Amino acid sequence: RVVYVNGQWRPHRAAMVHVEDRGYQFGDGVYEVCEVQGGRLVDERRHTERLLRSLSELRIPLPLPVSALSVVLHETVRRNRMSDGIVYLQVTRGVARRDHGFPPAGTRPSLVVSARRIDPAIGAATARTGIAVVTLPETRWARVDIKAVALLPNVLAKQAAREQGAREAWFVDRDGFVTEGASSNAWIVTATDELVTRPVGPDILRGISREVVKDAARAGRLTLVERPFTVAEALAAREAFVTAASQIVMPVVRIDGHAVGGGVPGPVAAALRAAFHRHAE
Ligand code: PDD
Repeated sequence: RVVYVNGQWRPHRAAMVHVEDRGYQFGDGVYEVCEVQGGRLVDERRHTERLLRSLSELRIPLPLPVSALSVVLHETVRRNRMSDGIVYLQVTRGVARRDHGFPPAGTRPSLVVSARRIDPAIGAATARTGIAVVTLPETRWARVDIKAVALLPNVLAKQAAREQGAREAWFVDRDGFVTEGASSNAWIVTATDELVTRPVGPDILRGISREVVKDAARAGRLTLVERPFTVAEALAAREAFVTAASQIVMPVVRIDGHAVGGGVPGPVAAALRAAFHRHAE
């Protein structure tokens, strides 16, 4: 495995950034996870657009032109002889003496791009049985639309899920509405056949897979409604599922130990999963 680190290709075990990198000290950086399918980067354009938006919200400059970034992404896939898996990209504000305020002008942001192979059969098998989720109070900051590497609440939520035998955690806001998963967007299919997901705003990440599923749903003539839903609604739903680059569309069959949709994956999630790559770029 090789990893791109600030202009150089390094063997995975020797791929390093400095201890005073602001990503390490402050979580002062952003990231993207892009699916690779059959050697192709899925939705590279939209991932790049979201990266640029996250960077501009935090006033971190991209340390190379977008065209050069694209070359790095494709080279990462090629040099790792990747067929299926994910590419991880991270940009931090760079290395500087520890000081909360921005570092001196001219500090070069750190860029790291790595890849990991994932056997698509694993996700496919999980999708046939579905996953369990647990719900937790929303404890994140007010700008989770920025894909920042500072992910402590997500880390703790994911671990809490794991300790309860679940694969994902859904954050629930003060009004009882699900915001999103610790690393995915949340969806339900209601008894009246509405496909429901929370509208974008500062309280969720605008998932690229979420956009793809919206397009697939329209093509499939499903009634798409962007509105918040409660945990009770999800428990009464016909189906529930999550979306993320690393999981595509993953059925949810248990919430806090209660079965959803009879405890088995439903047809809408299966159809959207099957249609996914036809609607991705
Ligand atoms: N997570 N919401 C959160 C909080 C996420 O971390 C993610 C993605 C999503 C879905 O976004 P997309 O469809 O663009 O992957 C929603 C990535 C996969 C991760 O952190 O590994």
